[in-house]
Amino acid sequence: MKINGTPFRSIWCEAGEVRIIDQRWLPHELRIVPLRTRAEFAAAIRDMWVRGAPLIGATAAWGMAVQMADDPSDAALAETWEVLHATRPTAINLRWALNEMRRLLAPLPPSERAAAAARRAAEICDEDVEINRRIGAHGLTLIREIAERKRGRVNILTHCNAGWLATVDWGTATSPIYHALEAGIDVHVFVDETRPRNQGALLTAWEMNSHGVSHDLIVDNAGGHLMQHGEVDLVIVGTDRTTAQGDVCNKIGTYLKALAAKANGVPFYVALPSPTIDWTVRDGVAEIPIEERSGAEVTHVQGKAPDGSVISVQISPDGTGARNPAFDVTPAALVTGLITERGICAAEAGAMAALFPEAARSA
Ligand code: MRU
Repeated sequence: MKINGTPFRSIWCEAGEVRIIDQRWLPHELRIVPLRTRAEFAAAIRDMWVRGAPLIGATAAWGMAVQMADDPSDAALAETWEVLHATRPTAINLRWALNEMRRLLAPLPPSERAAAAARRAAEICDEDVEINRRIGAHGLTLIREIAERKRGRVNILTHCNAGWLATVDWGTATSPIYHALEAGIDVHVFVDETRPRNQGALLTAWEMNSHGVSHDLIVDNAGGHLMQHGEVDLVIVGTDRTTAQGDVCNKIGTYLKALAAKANGVPFYVALPSPTIDWTVRDGVAEIPIEERSGAEVTHVQGKAPDGSVISVQISPDGTGARNPAFDVTPAALVTGLITERGICAAEAGAMAALFPEAARSA
């Protein structure tokens, strides 16, 4: 996508180094930083300079490639897999990308690993862009259908940031929205602020703003009310891990939106790139590890001070503890459909396996 007219990806290689947008400073500052060592790649994922399942995977792939240029030994390959894999527990794209790299690199002689790793990391990024472009094209058909039926504006609610900042480009949940905009369809987006880290308020709102998409930021608790009053035509969210039977793990609060959508007859779709499917698990509630983050993200909020600096402010009393599960699982029964790069299907084992037979078989 573009920033001030210049095409951007969220991660790229330039002048022989890997660069990212350090998302901790958005929307207040566009800070671009290089990642040069394995430790920096690990910190970038763990401390959320980059975030979003597909981008976490792409960053890990580049982290492996950079390490191979430094030390392509078997020991370094194994250790890098472990170090990067330990950074965040829920987004399955991390394991997927590291496995892709290991599968390719392990049989090669060490002297060939650096070049092969860089090639595959670049390919993983390009594949992510193409997957998301296709998700957009399929999702566009849903939006177009609603626009034609209503003969008017399509109101879409989204949660967290499943935008181009969470992927390499296009985004998952936002790709249909960007495609609708390009097709001249009148869309309006309700952006959940998405406490505690406010990826909606900070990142999705910034994306919508930069690309001229009509939008309103809403508090996380407003979605049900808007749905009750017929103000939401469609919900599209992203996912960090979806099971083989269609249970969807996504940013905390997604489950409540799905319940509200079901109660109000609002279609609830999940934009799902295939590397985000975990074919090894079925029951998402029982089997997906949910990241528990620091309570400080709940007791404090981050924002811009009048002097322009980014500050953190305490909002709860001294001594109040906090729980901070970062993700939740929406059972498949609450999901209207999955928008994948191969088309839209039901959140159900047979339908998913029919779209991705080779992956379902080899799991
Ligand atoms: O904790 P984050 O910011 O890495 O969470 C990831 C997300 O942005 C969302 O859960 C998103 O909806 C899925 S990733 C496209």
